Amino acid sequence: MNALELVRSRRSVRSFDGRPLSEEEINEILHFADTVESPYELPIIWKVLNAKASGLSSPVITGTDTYIAGKMQRLPHAEEAFGYVFERVVLFTEAKGIGTTWIGGTMDRGAFERAMGLEEGEVMPCVSPLGYPARKMSLRETMMRKGVKADSRLPFEALFLDGSFETPLNTEKAGELADALEMVRWAPSAVNKQPWRVVISGNTVHFYEKKSKGFISANGWDMQKIDMGIALCHFAVGMEEKKKKIEFLLEDPGIAHPADTDYIASYQLI
Ligand SMILES: Cc1cc2nc3c(=O)[nH]c(=O)nc-3n(C[C@H](O)[C@H](O)[C@H](O)COP(=O)(O)O)c2cc1C
Repeated sequence: MNALELVRSRRSVRSFDGRPLSEEEINEILHFADTVESPYELPIIWKVLNAKASGLSSPVITGTDTYIAGKMQRLPHAEEAFGYVFERVVLFTEAKGIGTTWIGGTMDRGAFERAMGLEEGEVMPCVSPLGYPARKMSLRETMMRKGVKADSRLPFEALFLDGSFETPLNTEKAGELADALEMVRWAPSAVNKQPWRVVISGNTVHFYEKKSKGFISANGWDMQKIDMGIALCHFAVGMEEKKKKIEFLLEDPGIAHPADTDYIASYQLI
């Protein structure tokens, strides 16, 4: 399976079949998570938690007691860094047939944070269950997927732009970037809002966040920046597969953009 096929085959798994992961599988996932670095170079501490032992729960998850969670210092770009690294872990587990769901809201957050030993100045952005997908989704899962139209995404031309926000990009014009952009298009995002907008300008690919209402908390924490980290991850994985070298840049190119849209980061093709 190539990277685009892997991304297309992934979906959030909320109903599991009850089979526990082996210790070896858990160690492999933790080892992988520990070796992934984001372009932001912010350290993340990963733990695999047992829901029964630590009193954890998520009302949307059935059939597994195993969760993975990460914590880090609450620093600028923590959201994007976490999104980037955790999504690499999600794709790693997906390739092994192990299901995940990004969970930032529907959980007993206090219990998870206690189990992670969260300290002053730290944040635990999201968690995910780990397990084998059940053959049949729970009714709640089916309803949730319908509610956010989880099986569809915005059209390519609505997300990707050619030089300016005025000009949509089509797959033909995207050329060698088309598959990596298609991987961005199919990324998971909070409430499936797909906040990523990407402007291709010369040999540089600029990522912007189109903000939806209700995702920024009083202390400035922005859940949709996690989605942006996921988008950066999918693009990087797509380009790696094509053996194309890219360089990460944090340099606003000054392209005129809508008021609800902010610059996040760029990748330059080298
Ligand atoms: C940052 C983030 C937070 C999310 N939080 C939740 C959550 O709290 N509960 C939940 O059931 N799904 C959550 N999701 C999963 C999304 O609803 C899901 O990715 C999206 O609907 C697309 O569906 P898919 O992952 O099956 O492609 C979250 C996803 C992301 C990226």
